[in-house]
Amino acid sequence: MRLDRFFSEQTALSRKEAAALIRSGAVTVNGVQLRKPDAAIQPGTDAVTLRGKPVVYQKFRYILLHKPTGVITASRDKSQKTVLDLLRPEDRFAGLTPAGRLDKDTSGLLLITDDGQLTHKMLSPKSHAPKYYLAALRDPFTKQIQSAFRDGILLREGDTEEPCLPAESEAIAERLAVVELHEGKYHQVRRMFAAAGNFVEQLLRIQIGCVPLPPDLPAGSYLHILDKDANNMLMKSHISEVCEFARCYYSSYWIKSGK
Ligand code: URA
Repeated sequence: MRLDRFFSEQTALSRKEAAALIRSGAVTVNGVQLRKPDAAIQPGTDAVTLRGKPVVYQKFRYILLHKPTGVITASRDKSQKTVLDLLRPEDRFAGLTPAGRLDKDTSGLLLITDDGQLTHKMLSPKSHAPKYYLAALRDPFTKQIQSAFRDGILLREGDTEEPCLPAESEAIAERLAVVELHEGKYHQVRRMFAAAGNFVEQLLRIQIGCVPLPPDLPAGSYLHILDKDANNMLMKSHISEVCEFARCYYSSYWIKSGK
């Protein structure tokens, strides 16, 4: 692949901008300064740096966002702010879409990617990525709620009631519970608690598969992650580990954000 093409694919630089940067001497390949935009390189094999920093070859982009409340999970909308509007212009690559959905009033971990295969795997019933939510409840979390979720609680769908897949849940405080889901029905966590006679006041997604919401990532901010980290979203965790993490980092989440 041509060096200028490599840069225009791996950054938001145009081909022309990339060529100018290469000519200026800002780029090395395998430790050697290369000033030729048409130099041929092997993406993924050759070590490329820009101003001394490695530029890691990635076929797709993976953005780990801490979605704030008040923003909708969509690529674009005429009147409401979307999660893609939170990206800096240089990060708005064509083809990026949210892999899954968080409702407007829910905050937390959301992957935005142009890797359609991973998005499909994360959402398809066969390989659905496990998702972990922290719910702040109006009333105490009880053993009855825990067993109703474990049995597959019924949710109203039009004129009928349909069972959810069995879901594990655990309290980390009297009114704070972690729920593990392997499916994605509309407003599922809120509706599950409502069906059990409780009410979700605040909801935060704290983990997908083995990938936690980084505790030091403020709401509205995001990180670029590698494909291997994004693929860890397909792996299962144990709810007790997720609860431990939630107790350490997220039991005061809504206190910190002042909500
Ligand atoms: N369950 C909900 O109620 N809302 C979400 O955004 C995700 C799961």
